[in-house]
Amino acid sequence: MEEEKKQHRLLLMASPLQGHMTPLLHLAHILFSKGFSITILHTLFNSPDPDSYPHFSFHAIPDGLSEAEASTLDAVHLTDLINTRCAHPLKECLPSLLSDSPQPVPCFISDAALHFTQPICDEFKLPRLVLRTGGASSFLVFASFPLLREKGYLPVQESRLEEPVVDFPPLKVKDLPKFQSQDPEAFYKLVCRFVEECKASSGVIWNTFEELESAALTKLRQDFSLPIYPIGPFHKRLPTGSASSSASLLTPDKSCISWLDKQEHNSVVYVSFGSIAAISEAEFLEIAWGLANSQQPFLWVIRPGSIRDSEGLEALPSGFLENLGGRGYIVKWAPQEQVLSHPAVGAFWTHNGWNSTLESLCEGVPMICMPFFADQKVNAKYASSVWKVGVQLQNKLERGEVEKTIKKVMVGDGAKEIRDNALNLKEKASACLKEGGSSYCFLDSLVSDILSFAS
Ligand code: UDX
Repeated sequence: MEEEKKQHRLLLMASPLQGHMTPLLHLAHILFSKGFSITILHTLFNSPDPDSYPHFSFHAIPDGLSEAEASTLDAVHLTDLINTRCAHPLKECLPSLLSDSPQPVPCFISDAALHFTQPICDEFKLPRLVLRTGGASSFLVFASFPLLREKGYLPVQESRLEEPVVDFPPLKVKDLPKFQSQDPEAFYKLVCRFVEECKASSGVIWNTFEELESAALTKLRQDFSLPIYPIGPFHKRLPTGSASSSASLLTPDKSCISWLDKQEHNSVVYVSFGSIAAISEAEFLEIAWGLANSQQPFLWVIRPGSIRDSEGLEALPSGFLENLGGRGYIVKWAPQEQVLSHPAVGAFWTHNGWNSTLESLCEGVPMICMPFFADQKVNAKYASSVWKVGVQLQNKLERGEVEKTIKKVMVGDGAKEIRDNALNLKEKASACLKEGGSSYCFLDSLVSDILSFAS
């Protein structure tokens, strides 16, 4: 079996967004550890650093993006551009990638968002596996976009926000994915297209686990007659803090770990809204005052560019941190997995990107949920109302609300129950990776299905 696997090379194509790049590189490591040789195909924009992965080969696909276009400000527009601009270059290089490989290539694995790869793989008669980097529950909602539109739930109307979405309890209209793109239809079209091309693929790999999303996974198996491989949580298969686990496009500031070392257990609120979301300066100030007034210690990631029309830190009132006497710590980018696994961290105020949600679940850290767009809204609803491991920040982003919500999660009446639920899921996330566990077994079937493509 081992010998047979070493004779194969896999081509994996990554999307240049942090929340997509990380799980794809993690998947590559997992498959490498199963004996496959790996070639990563990537855009020139946000390309991964090959020096961090000496055991992989890398191949850049010219993306033709201008300086202005190479931006994550409108991730839907960026993804559309990549789907259009990378098609020809991929077609051009695929014959030599296939013929120059010393080993046969049984399949191509691409991020679901890169739907342009499906027709190209069809042309080359190369089976395509899809990596869906988000959760299965949100994907089910994406897969039902045409139905949700037919029933009038989409596009989301302000007047119906509190209405339940009949086919998707406990979602309300306000929890449905939306995205403000240059073209109002662009998000809907992108979602429908990537779902269609998933259906045309040879199988979908998920960074989730059966025990977390069994209802959605069961429904997906019924609706899509395709193999579904929930083999996550990917990052827990790799040693925390190792080169292989770090796929960060920004350099993490590790000084925050020494600061965390000095804090009491379960006392710190970790605040980060991922790699794309941005807030206004007014919202930034409400967050700052809410954190200050909560009386809890906090570690806050203020990513460059994450405050619209502002440089960031300079928008803080003068002496803000100093006046807190060491109770607050701010970094531009954190080693998030390490932070979440630190015993001082008591809650994660998150935008509920899927990676952040999963990373929090895996460490048993309760969440304060503040979704911005796309799948984040569904993830936040599941975290707060289905898994019951967090509380959604309700109403406006306002300092009093922030203070109240932090207290609710850290010290309120329901705080213990939330923490217990989180610890319970942490155990499940760990058990599924052990021999005989669900993700362990699905990975075995994935590997054997990949090998069967080659025979
Ligand atoms: C994007 C989309 O916004 C989200 O809806 C989708 O689910 C995934 O892609 P992003 O903003 O990148 O999400 O968030 P997330 O999925 O949570 O990924 C962010 C990654 O960056 C996480 O793996 C997190 O550990 C890492 N990170 C974040 C850091 O390493 N340091 C930080 O300071 C902040």
